[in-house]
Amino acid sequence: MQILFYAPEGRPEPWLAELQSHLPQAQLRAWQPGDSQPADYAVVWEPPVELLQQPGLKALFNLGAGVDGILRHGEQIPAGLPIVRLDDAGMGEQMAQYVSWAVLGYFRRFADFARQQQQASWRFLKPNNKQQFTIGILGMGVLGQCIAASLLHFGFPVNGWSRTGRSTPGVTSFAGDGQLDAFLRASRVLVCILPLTPATTGILNRENLQKLPPQSFVINVARGPHVVEEDLLALVQNGHIAGATLDVFCEEPLPPAHPFWSEPAITVTPHIAAVTLRPVSLAQIAGKIRKLENGEEIAGVVDRTKGY
Ligand code: NAP
Ligand code: GLV
Repeated sequence: MQILFYAPEGRPEPWLAELQSHLPQAQLRAWQPGDSQPADYAVVWEPPVELLQQPGLKALFNLGAGVDGILRHGEQIPAGLPIVRLDDAGMGEQMAQYVSWAVLGYFRRFADFARQQQQASWRFLKPNNKQQFTIGILGMGVLGQCIAASLLHFGFPVNGWSRTGRSTPGVTSFAGDGQLDAFLRASRVLVCILPLTPATTGILNRENLQKLPPQSFVINVARGPHVVEEDLLALVQNGHIAGATLDVFCEEPLPPAHPFWSEPAITVTPHIAAVTLRPVSLAQIAGKIRKLENGEEIAGVVDRTKGY
């Protein structure tokens, strides 16, 4: 069995060695432009289109949860090629940590206390009321569910929005475009963990963000283009949105002159909310390759018509 590996950054050797330890019979190689030798599987992150057209491919394994870096190639992706995303693979726990950190920071007013410390000011600030701190999670898939479980643990009211109104114990479900308004109007904190598709691009625009209650917070841990960045900035600057925690941006790395860097109410992190953990991710991929070789079904195959 021949397996290709490709990632635009970093050294391929540690990935190839780890994958080889799971699949000792396989012949592995780092893909290079011009490689036209047949291969059975490819393990990739943001591959160029030529790699998708490699002869013989039985499946393409994405080294992340989001497949927008593959689906952007559209019609040039061979029609029958299964694309397989990572299923959690340790990202759920990381996402739960990141979003809990941001939500607790807002709820417990830690940024206000940090400002007071700079002025050596010992002052009581009125605590927020949990019942008025409903968290709305846009996207209730693998990662949204992990975020919800963690926030329920702290006792926050949690609402979840999905295409199909997926039900989750303890979470109030909202479905589709028809229930988006009601969902937004109830969200004191809005968390975006949607896949990037034509339907979700620009969903956090001025019109939708204005539906959030005054003094709400936005956390985007999905993809930058969900947010219309100038709309979010304007609503933060006019005070309708009290703060935003952003891990992903339309352009990454975020350019040094971008106004998000210097806006005090915006916290920027460099796309680290949930990183791909090599050992667990390659163990998952190797397990799925073994299943495919045995003619068994696998989880995580992307539905290209839905885009995730
Ligand atoms: P997933 O399991 O595919 O879940 C996607 C969820 O979004 C589902 O609940 C789905 O609804 C919902 N959804 C999709 N399109 C929708 C629409 N048009 N309207 C309403 N709901 C819609 O994805 P996941 O594993 O949770 O990952 C989500 C995204 O997180 C990834 O695609 C990736 O972009 C991002 N991510 C970011 C980082 C980071 O470090 N910042 C790390 C990992 C992943 P249904 O349940 O009804 O199908
Ligand atoms: C990271 O952003 C991923 O999609 O896994």
